[in-house]
Amino acid sequence: MRNRRAAIAAVATAASLALTLSACGQSGEGGSEEDKSGSEGATIGIAMPTKSSERWIADGDNVVKDLESKGYKTKLVFGEDDPDQQVAQVENLITQDVKALIVAAIDNKSLNNVLQQAKDADIPVISYDRLILGTENVDYYASFDNEKVGALQGDYIVDKLGLKDGSEKGPFNIELFAGSNDDNNTRYFFQGAMNVLQPYIDKKQLVVKSGQTELNQVTTLRWDGGTAQKRMDDILTSSYKSGRVDAVLSPYDGISIGILSALKSDDYGSKNKPLPIVTGQDAEVASVKSIIADQQSMTVYKDTRELAKVATNMVDALLNDKKPEVNDTKTYDNGAKVVPAYLLEPVAVDKANYQEAVVDSGYIKESDLK
Ligand code: GAL
Repeated sequence: MRNRRAAIAAVATAASLALTLSACGQSGEGGSEEDKSGSEGATIGIAMPTKSSERWIADGDNVVKDLESKGYKTKLVFGEDDPDQQVAQVENLITQDVKALIVAAIDNKSLNNVLQQAKDADIPVISYDRLILGTENVDYYASFDNEKVGALQGDYIVDKLGLKDGSEKGPFNIELFAGSNDDNNTRYFFQGAMNVLQPYIDKKQLVVKSGQTELNQVTTLRWDGGTAQKRMDDILTSSYKSGRVDAVLSPYDGISIGILSALKSDDYGSKNKPLPIVTGQDAEVASVKSIIADQQSMTVYKDTRELAKVATNMVDALLNDKKPEVNDTKTYDNGAKVVPAYLLEPVAVDKANYQEAVVDSGYIKESDLK
């Protein structure tokens, strides 16, 4: 069997393909039967960030299921949102002789050293959902169109406040929340949303009474709902002695639930004080229930079953001497290289389409929403 190092180098670049072929004197056409059997039974390491959010548990389960259906063995670990723990876990997976790694990073930079170890051991690395920054040792990136996620949230707010199509309505008060500052997705989500919202802020149809509009003022470490709740509480106390909040840009369902708790403690949701528009992301069960109950307004549904398939196919291709399918080779510069990516489409979901989008598609069981 052709060795794994040569097989992976062969798909990396045309130059290395030529070199590898001359060194091995073998045909580079696709994966031979011999290669195929070479990957079978290989163990793949999967590192997920946390079990505190149901999406990552589902991501882990789906990746395992898909890899096993292709004949792989798997080792799945969760990092409890602790970057050091994740580094140790990935290091451990490398010493357990995994043949590829699928990693959803907790902190986008802390994995650099350990990924050098992966490289030295000829283990290809797929950055899963979150791009790992500052290292060449990331082979491919599987994710969603992250800027579009933010755009869908921004669009929803603008649409529901009736600001679209040149309307002069307003001013409306809005507060802005972003994700964890160590997650590369955060800036894409925020940028996508602000591309939509900023023109209305400039025209004063949207007003951020807290004055907190810069990304570094609005991030939420580790996407923590309690942290977001506390910040919303503080904003309500300091900036809304008069006036009301009309909309809150929230990047993620866990954060939305925290924001809604703060709002409800301040009487929002009562008869004379309707809740503001609150966005979200991930179509988590608690948030879809909240949408059905007219509390959270929308979420962005990302079918993580598809994401798991993309990552699994990338691994399978790499271990069988084929080039993984990508659809973006420009957007995701991690500081060391532009990482070839396959990006899936996010979908805006509210009360009007949740049934079709997340229930009929089998993403969430109807019974879980009761
Ligand atoms: C992001 C991810 C979001 C959300 C968030 C918090 O990286 O893209 O979908 O899950 O983490 O877990």
